[in-house]
Amino acid sequence: MNNKFKKIILKKNKQKILCLTSYSKNIAEILDRFVDIILVGDSLGSVLYNYNSTRKVSLRNMIEHSKSVRMGIRKSLMVVDMPFQTYRTKNEALSNAKKLMKITKCDAVKLEGGKKIINIVDYLIKNKIPVMGHIGILPQSVKGKFRFKGKNKSDKKKLISDAKLLEERGVFSIVLECIESSTSMAITKSLKIPTIGIGSSSNCDGQVLVTDDMIGLNPNSFRFVKKYGNVKKHIESSVKKFRSDVLKKRFPAKKYSFVN
Ligand code: KIV
Repeated sequence: MNNKFKKIILKKNKQKILCLTSYSKNIAEILDRFVDIILVGDSLGSVLYNYNSTRKVSLRNMIEHSKSVRMGIRKSLMVVDMPFQTYRTKNEALSNAKKLMKITKCDAVKLEGGKKIINIVDYLIKNKIPVMGHIGILPQSVKGKFRFKGKNKSDKKKLISDAKLLEERGVFSIVLECIESSTSMAITKSLKIPTIGIGSSSNCDGQVLVTDDMIGLNPNSFRFVKKYGNVKKHIESSVKKFRSDVLKKRFPAKKYSFVN
């Protein structure tokens, strides 16, 4: 296990782990100074491509965005989501994970699911592919409305058992998506590896959000997302000034022109 992974694991019980998504170099460059993990999430399907489901995201989409993100990262751990139907069998998963790692030079891949995909996770790890787990709401499996998880006893038991199984097989961390607060606490307490929560309360070892949501670039809003900025407003304001300058012939002035 290399130092980047060790650092993440050692943070458990000491300092919260920070993770945000990026789909491009410029955003990754900003995040890299402040977070531990940069995730190229398949949320890019809804955020950038307006897909109604992450199921429509292709391996090609993930590879192209990850190549861009890679250029912006110097120190953070880079994790890339394996998209829907790219890990249906052990061989398919290994071949696609190897391709992702080789082309994008990411540090790890993330797969959605617990017991159902445990043999795939096991196979990847045995073949030296570092894996991040993801349980709770699994957007690649959801048809219809997203409902939070872990609200009853049996659901809680299943989530804890999935998390433990993933840990046993060697994932270095697990994303908990939209899991009820006491269940997140129980999962986090039962593991040696860190949990990274999204909509899963402060009981997790770290937090992840979709950057476009939290900076106010993506117009969608979710109950669990705190908006830390209004980047859309900043862009609008710059574009308005540009428009006005061009229409009034203030731009480009001489200093922006090439004059012999
Ligand atoms: O796709 C994504 O961005 C994710 C995060 C929401 C954890 O999986």
